[in-house]
Amino acid sequence: MIHKQSQLQSRLNTRRHRKRASVMYSSINQSVRAKSKPSTLLDISMENQIPHLHECGGNGRCTTCRVRIIEGHRNLSPRTAVEKNTAHVRKWDPSIRLACQCTVHGDVEVQRLVWSSAEVNKLQLETIPEGEAEERNIVILFCDLRNFTRITSENMVFDMAHMLNRFYTVLGDPILMNNGIIYQYVGDEIVGIFGTCGGSREKNTMDAVRAALGMQYAIERLNHFELQAFGTKFRIGIGLNYGRAFVGHLGHPKHRQFTVVGDPVNVASRIQGCTKETQSKTLISKSILEGLPDGTLEIGRTFTKLLAGKTMPIELHELKDFAGVDINLQLQSSLDYVLKNELGFAQRFYKKVFERAPGLRSLFRDDMSGQERLLTHMLGGIVYSLSRPEYLKMGLRTLGKSHEKYGVKPEHYPLVKQLLIETIKEELGDFHTEKLSEAWLQALDFVTSEMMNWQSAK
Ligand code: FES
Repeated sequence: MIHKQSQLQSRLNTRRHRKRASVMYSSINQSVRAKSKPSTLLDISMENQIPHLHECGGNGRCTTCRVRIIEGHRNLSPRTAVEKNTAHVRKWDPSIRLACQCTVHGDVEVQRLVWSSAEVNKLQLETIPEGEAEERNIVILFCDLRNFTRITSENMVFDMAHMLNRFYTVLGDPILMNNGIIYQYVGDEIVGIFGTCGGSREKNTMDAVRAALGMQYAIERLNHFELQAFGTKFRIGIGLNYGRAFVGHLGHPKHRQFTVVGDPVNVASRIQGCTKETQSKTLISKSILEGLPDGTLEIGRTFTKLLAGKTMPIELHELKDFAGVDINLQLQSSLDYVLKNELGFAQRFYKKVFERAPGLRSLFRDDMSGQERLLTHMLGGIVYSLSRPEYLKMGLRTLGKSHEKYGVKPEHYPLVKQLLIETIKEELGDFHTEKLSEAWLQALDFVTSEMMNWQSAK
């Protein structure tokens, strides 16, 4: 009898041991199981093809993998030292965890808190002090929609609301893709800020210039693809300025809001105003030009203007483009074309892969739709992370490591790269140019070489 009982107990123990922890993702109502032990929450998402942002590749260096624990807090390992530090700086309550830092020992229910790469920049605001302002070196971008009053009078209210929503979205993306924060919408104006969390003058200036050029590309796309049906064309004017301003969360104690004040902000607004009389698309101050190495930008006309409220005239320069090919800008401005039909893109790509290399089919489990979703999520994430190369490298090496685990070999990479380029060219269609292909090729060279070199990651 005793022997039978101990046999039963041992079977129960074995079964319990075999039962893997489950993770319930509340917002998408999907439950998955850990496939290996021990696993972090992020590992479990990745193994189960749940898109889960992890910009630093699971190294505890960003906060994009953060989740809120709804149930099962005790089934997670305690905070690591790096996670403790992050939680302290950002004043997180105990329910917020970094998915890459907690090991799962039993069932949990979680909610992912950062859903898209576009949301990542908002996280910068968490480190801005409450109730006081600090002086910081920033770049301010003002973008104005031309002839707003006339356009409003010519269009029906709901059409106008739709067009404005699209305007704010497609023009906001270049700000977000380049480490900027969308500070305000003032009527028909968008205000972007770069450098709220520090960073070098050159990096912040480069980000802002790239965003301004990206906005000009974006407005062309919007006019071409979406506004033709309304018989309307949008034009914009952009002003950029660099300087020291006060940045903080200010206001009534019950309603503080992120605020940026200072002379450089007013000057940026007035520079934007000058684009109307000079008939320029983008004007930059001398401080922007001086923030970048000589020869970085292609500059057009130069103006000397006395801005309202100033006693001394200032020099303004017309920004035309980068002097050479800027890979980040090329990729960012073509991402919408490439992923205009995300599912179609992924399906076409995998069809090519399985036709040219049927042996690779066995590396994929049956859930191809999850795999397709993951591919476009990853491609978009890479383009968004180009402006944070230090994180991108870490993320790519982690990706390389997980691909090796799935059976991907170094000899597979050249074919995958070639087929991605072919699919990208097809998606670009009439908008394909040699310059764009070259930029995507260089970017994919970088991506695959970092993925293959994951062993060199520290
Ligand atoms: S902190 Fe978890 S992925 Fe960066």
